[in-house]
Amino acid sequence: MPYKIALYPGDGIGPEVITEAKKVLEAVGADCNFTHIDWNTTLYAKIGKCAPDDYLDKLKNFDAILLGALGNSHNAPDHIAVQPLLGMRRGFDQYVNLRPAVLYEGVECPLKNKKPYDIDMIVIRENTEGEYTPLGGRHYIGTPYEAAIQVNYFTRMGTERIIRYAFETARTRNRKHVTSITKSNALIHSMVLWDEVCREVAKDYPDVTWSSMLVDAAAMNFVRQPEIFDVVVCSNLFGDILTDLAAVIIGGMGFAASANLKPSKKYPSMFEPIHGSAPDIAGKGIANPLAAIMSAAMMLEFLGDEKNAMRIKHAVQSHLKESKVKTPDRGGTARTWEIGDDIVKRL
Ligand code: NAD
Ligand code: IPM
Ligand code: MN
Repeated sequence: MPYKIALYPGDGIGPEVITEAKKVLEAVGADCNFTHIDWNTTLYAKIGKCAPDDYLDKLKNFDAILLGALGNSHNAPDHIAVQPLLGMRRGFDQYVNLRPAVLYEGVECPLKNKKPYDIDMIVIRENTEGEYTPLGGRHYIGTPYEAAIQVNYFTRMGTERIIRYAFETARTRNRKHVTSITKSNALIHSMVLWDEVCREVAKDYPDVTWSSMLVDAAAMNFVRQPEIFDVVVCSNLFGDILTDLAAVIIGGMGFAASANLKPSKKYPSMFEPIHGSAPDIAGKGIANPLAAIMSAAMMLEFLGDEKNAMRIKHAVQSHLKESKVKTPDRGGTARTWEIGDDIVKRL
């Protein structure tokens, strides 16, 4: 049975990079049946919504969703444009957000004296609660007393399952080290719970070493000594911020892939580049599609087609190491589609 894949290109460079990801999936011979989803901010102009109300129902029977990017502030308010993305993460309980950051051979690192694979970490971001909980409200709107409340919501269950996932992941890696990102010096409820749960979970993994690091210090260390990180586990907002930083130290936003996983596969998981719709370069055909292509490889791996996932990863690595075909973010003049073609050639 072919995998049922919802292709959801979205806005801006989303369609440009997803075209290349699909090209690579087809070229590798992955057994996928694609359904094109045309929800984006253009739809908002027509129906006042960026996706139909029943978008979760429409997506729930797919095996996976491959998303480009959402958001175009000329067409729709940003918090409305990205709502389906956050809605899928919560609605499909995709509680694990996997964001690997590896410095590959052939990629220029903005940090001094870094060799390939000096940076080799995986950030595991909590994806369904924390700072992104849509609870709260506005009060006394438009008056000098106006207030906005955004509830920071951490459950023991949600915290434990993501930290456990991080320790399980560390077990499968060479260095077997977890860094738990915290801010319990200031966030005296949520992050103190986080730290307590981490200490408890760690007891079940005597073979894994771990440490706790304040998020501000972590931001510094991602730049100062990124080689110390192996598995990094963090809350929703901290993970969002740290993974843009992780992307830029491995070459740029065009490199950073991600997976939003429902590990039990009860609902579809979603795969997407970490970057957004990049309005500054959208429509120019110069976006780097590698993040989208690597996200497609993560999708195949999760669905069980490890062989083709590895073939895509190897083709990307050989492209990075050997090819002179580079998009402008890497100092080249190549177009988005030329990167896809070069990878296809190497499969
Ligand atoms: P962005 O990631 O879109 O862009 C940041 C910078 O990185 C820009 O200079 C852009 O040109 C560059 N960049 C990003 N992807 C690139 C690629 N593949 N190749 C080359 N350069 C690339 O972030 P932003 O500008 O803060 O956000 C733009 C819009 O995207 C906003 O509407 C935001 O809400 C949305 N957004 C969506 C997602 C998502 O759908 N997953 C993620 C982040 C931001
Ligand atoms: C990401 C994005 C999203 C997030 C936005 C678009 C809501 O920045 O996936 O990193 O904050 O999670
Ligand atoms: Mn982000």
